Amino acid sequence: MKLTLSVIKADIGGFVGHSASHPDVINEASESLSKAKKEGLLIDYHITSCGDDIQLIMTHQQGDESEKIHRLAWDTFVAGTEVAKKLKLYGAGQDLLSDAFAGNVKGMGPGVAEMEFEERKSEPVLIFMADKTSAGAWNMPLYKMFADPFNTIGLVIAPTMHSGFAFKVHDLKEHKKITLNAPEDIYDLLVFIGAPTRFAIKAVFSREADEIAAVTSTERLSLIAQRYVGKDDPVCIVRCQGIFPAVGEVLEPFAAPILVEGWMRGSHMGPLMPVSLQESTPARFDGPPRVVAAGFQLAEGKFIGPRDMFADVSFELARQQANEMADMMRRHGPFEPHRLPLEEMEYTTMPQVAEKLADRFIALD
Ligand code: F6R
Ligand code: MG
Ligand code: MG
Repeated sequence: MKLTLSVIKADIGGFVGHSASHPDVINEASESLSKAKKEGLLIDYHITSCGDDIQLIMTHQQGDESEKIHRLAWDTFVAGTEVAKKLKLYGAGQDLLSDAFAGNVKGMGPGVAEMEFEERKSEPVLIFMADKTSAGAWNMPLYKMFADPFNTIGLVIAPTMHSGFAFKVHDLKEHKKITLNAPEDIYDLLVFIGAPTRFAIKAVFSREADEIAAVTSTERLSLIAQRYVGKDDPVCIVRCQGIFPAVGEVLEPFAAPILVEGWMRGSHMGPLMPVSLQESTPARFDGPPRVVAAGFQLAEGKFIGPRDMFADVSFELARQQANEMADMMRRHGPFEPHRLPLEEMEYTTMPQVAEKLADRFIALD
């Protein structure tokens, strides 16, 4: 059965501040998708949230970038925004950067990750959702899952994975893409994906089977809107088992928290903390950045799940380490490397301050 799995997400209002989504907004979105399911446009759907972002997780047979599906997501976010406005939620409609839908939500604010594939005999998928960070946050975890034998032993001992994976990388500033193969191109690959502000892994493919393995949302809100409108808060879909890494190999990178950009005012480095769906409510200094993992088995396009994968006790140490890393970074206050370099900060008063002090700046001797 050929199936499309679409995850389309947006921040359409925070409860309280930028910390979480409101149940009434989620209910409104559920009504909209339930109608689309009854009408036969969707096979199935699941709605959840990560921090202040609403996540529409949908299966259908309309293919990638379907106008009908994108319109449904857009209309659902518009309806949710009306509810958010009534409740005076914070930043109601924040990620809807345009007044009218123009055929595709890409470039209009919402984040999109979609993949079309033939549903296997058994199809386990993990949907990762992050809040208070940007698209490049998936680079290191995806590299570890699909190219690092110290993370994924299957690359070494599973004949189905031994020929490696291909990585499609987007240059978010120059709007270009390149595909590089692991293992032979890994040093070249790391030159780019090691700079996650500019380069983001868009998709990963099994080289043996020429099958899609993972896809991410790579929209950069600030580049779309040319101003600060909140962090991208990206999503990522990963197919697991068989010709792909096992569920445990896919979750493993998050056991060792890394620093990502985002956090307070989208302008800081902080640890990416793996949490349960219930704990995806950034609070301390509007963070630290969170990642959740919803696990599903697909059955003829129906969602069996979710299982809340990071609710497991084996991620408690990672949460503790992330809290310690958060403390260590917070110690720097307004100094780098906690604060992002000037050119990467989503907010900056530097031009105004420099202008005000222009005649007090004098040449060095
Ligand atoms: C970061 C984020 C928050 C806000 C901060 C200020 O992605 O969403 O840290 O940047 O709460 O929000 P405003 O400018 O809306 O008052
Ligand atoms: Mg928000
Ligand atoms: Mg958010």
